[in-house]
Amino acid sequence: MVMKREWLAWELNWLRKHGVGVEREDLESYGEKPVEYITGWAAWRGGEVRVSEAVLIPRIETEELVSHAAKEIILREKRRRDREKGFFEPKEREGVSSRIKKPKKKTWRIAEVGTGSGVVAIGLAEVLRAAGVPNFCIAAGDISPAALKIARKNRLLRAIPSTDLVFWRSDLLSGFDVFSDRDKFDLIVANLPYIPTSRQGKLAKSVVDFEPVRALFGGEDGLDLIWGLIKQAPIYLRKGGTLWLEFDESQAETLLNWGNSNQIFNISIQMDQFERPRFARLTFK
Ligand SMILES: C[S@@+](CC[C@H](N)C(=O)[O-])C[C@H]1O[C@@H](n2cnc3c(N)ncnc32)[C@H](O)[C@@H]1O
Repeated sequence: MVMKREWLAWELNWLRKHGVGVEREDLESYGEKPVEYITGWAAWRGGEVRVSEAVLIPRIETEELVSHAAKEIILREKRRRDREKGFFEPKEREGVSSRIKKPKKKTWRIAEVGTGSGVVAIGLAEVLRAAGVPNFCIAAGDISPAALKIARKNRLLRAIPSTDLVFWRSDLLSGFDVFSDRDKFDLIVANLPYIPTSRQGKLAKSVVDFEPVRALFGGEDGLDLIWGLIKQAPIYLRKGGTLWLEFDESQAETLLNWGNSNQIFNISIQMDQFERPRFARLTFK
């Protein structure tokens, strides 16, 4: 027996808002398709972005990933400014020799891996600008050319200059080789596919039938791409730089056990707003 879809009030409002039909026969024709794919629009950080079935619909938890990652750079920029102030004051007071090097202006270098619709990179650019971080450059990659098309549309839609954010095709970090010798990254952030394939049968039809397989599944335990990225990260991160990851709560223990026994990264786990362990901060020792 086919169950009739129960439409939620917000879904009907979303359709109406975007001028999409909500008559009975319209609703029947949509089947289980998420309203974001029907309208081509999804909510993101108090605004909207374009989506298609080539990209994952942005999730609310991922907004938290953006906040964590942005804070990393905001704090470092604040420390840099404090050092800059500290440089001028003693010089005037104590007549310190001009041989002391003036702290350099810093361009914060950030990479996002698995950008999809571009929301994480775009969110980072928006938060950093709003926080008054003047110099940053974000490079965001995805393996899917169709996803990158949407990401570029969203960059224009949200008026982020291409000097702040560029998108390109890359398998994890391998397409970022131009950065590996010099100008390493201060921050790498990723919300990679992490659903264990064993869970495929348990997912809602609106997810498995419509969202891109390549955006959802990360192998048997869901960690294949995350391990792949962790392996590559030391080539691209500068010492002291951080890698922020979103993952499934079932993977927290595995990540923590690995983190406690490895010599390359310090790891800490962060909870999401629902008190579930969902984010990892890895600092390159
Ligand atoms: C979970 S989605 C996240 C999308 C977006 N960052 C977000 O948070 O809404 C994962 C993304 O990783 C991309 N992806 C999958 N395998 C990849 C790989 N080997 N290298 C780069 N990107 C990959 C998918 O195409 C998809 O867009």
